[in-house]
Amino acid sequence: MTSEFDCPVVNGKLISKALTYTSFWNLGISNIAIPLNIKDDEILVRVKAVSINPIDILVQRLSIFFIGSYRKVYGGDFAGIVIKSGLKSGYVNGDSVYGYRLAPLSFNGTYSQYIIINPKKTIFCDKIPNGIIYEQAASLSCVGATGYGILKQGLTLNGTNKNISKDKDLKGLLKGKKIFISGAGTSVGSYALQFAKKYMNADKVVVTCAARSYNEIENLGADLIIDYTQGNFQTINELLEYVKINGKFDIIIDCVRNEIFLDYLDLILKDKTANGAYCQIYGSKSMKILTCSLFSIILPSFHSIKFKIFQMFGLLKHNFYIYKLHYDSTFGSVIKSMCKDDTLETPIDSIYRGWTDYDKAIQRVGSAKASGKAVCIL
Ligand SMILES: NC(=O)c1ccc[n+]([C@@H]2O[C@H](COP(=O)([O-])OP(=O)(O)OC[C@H]3O[C@@H](n4cnc5c(N)ncnc54)[C@H](OP(=O)(O)O)[C@@H]3O)[C@@H](O)[C@H]2O)c1
Repeated sequence: MTSEFDCPVVNGKLISKALTYTSFWNLGISNIAIPLNIKDDEILVRVKAVSINPIDILVQRLSIFFIGSYRKVYGGDFAGIVIKSGLKSGYVNGDSVYGYRLAPLSFNGTYSQYIIINPKKTIFCDKIPNGIIYEQAASLSCVGATGYGILKQGLTLNGTNKNISKDKDLKGLLKGKKIFISGAGTSVGSYALQFAKKYMNADKVVVTCAARSYNEIENLGADLIIDYTQGNFQTINELLEYVKINGKFDIIIDCVRNEIFLDYLDLILKDKTANGAYCQIYGSKSMKILTCSLFSIILPSFHSIKFKIFQMFGLLKHNFYIYKLHYDSTFGSVIKSMCKDDTLETPIDSIYRGWTDYDKAIQRVGSAKASGKAVCIL
């Protein structure tokens, strides 16, 4: 044991506690060896907090197809402190960092006391802005970047902004636009709502969420809230009523794959000639990711295949896109800017002791009832 690290060091390697599995049945805490000799462009991070995402649960469920002793580390979101920094990493020892690394079914998950990160090769990594604590920072990268990325995709498909460059600041770019977000009670949706309203200045944002979340969602900026728990029939009726008075939407973002809206696009979304764009997040259809069939997550639905084919042949009246999170260089500066203006909310559902209560955090996210993120302190 050395004073520099809070874990044993053996033969130049840290013996770090981590949440690992080899197959679906044996998720648990074990020790993994993390080399101390990092490369010039890497940082060694003492992870302070992680959060659980539906994709973590999906990836671990997929390991049902794997047998053998190959150990995989859970998790993708992280927040922590830089313990060792390579000369070309852009960070120094003591920096507080947060980010998201997608490393499915590999040793490179982030649910570990110590991790090595190459900031430039990670989907997202940045210094934690002032005023944000580790638990908040660990909660926002994956869902925040997805909410931001899908809006950017909607904007890019929305013809007036077709030439949006990758590095373009999107501040104020939704001015005059009407947005509909299906599932603003999801973590992704709650960020999409905030970015649309508070950063990109959308004119109107209409959302669906359950009545229990009305207050939170109203505080995030929603102009009209429709309770999806009343059923699709009632939701569509309320949407049609809104559109009759206010006109069709410019962009529709679906965070919960409620494909009923696809059947009504002609009535609720502006068509291609007026730059109407529909974006769906690639994810589970039922949201109950612990219990739903794996095929319902992995495979696209009949509906979306039909739309994709129609799109290929130019037969769709609207722009149509299924979004998967990817690297975006501007996300970090948006978070910094909103933290500076004190306008960013980081919805957290619950905080857990990471080495003993990880299963409770996973069950909470898998229940599709968490209002915000489940965060684990390491
Ligand atoms: N492709 C990607 O890159 C990517 C990245 C991140 C997430 N995702 C996907 O995006 C989806 C959302 O993830 P998340 O982490 O944000 O979820 P989450 O925070 O776990 O969402 C839970 C919330 O969803 C709401 N909800 C559940 N069923 C709903 C329904 N049928 N209609 C509307 N709202 C419903 C509930 O809120 P209320 O009942 O309070 O309204 C619940 O509290 C998941 O399918 C996930 O896999 C994809």
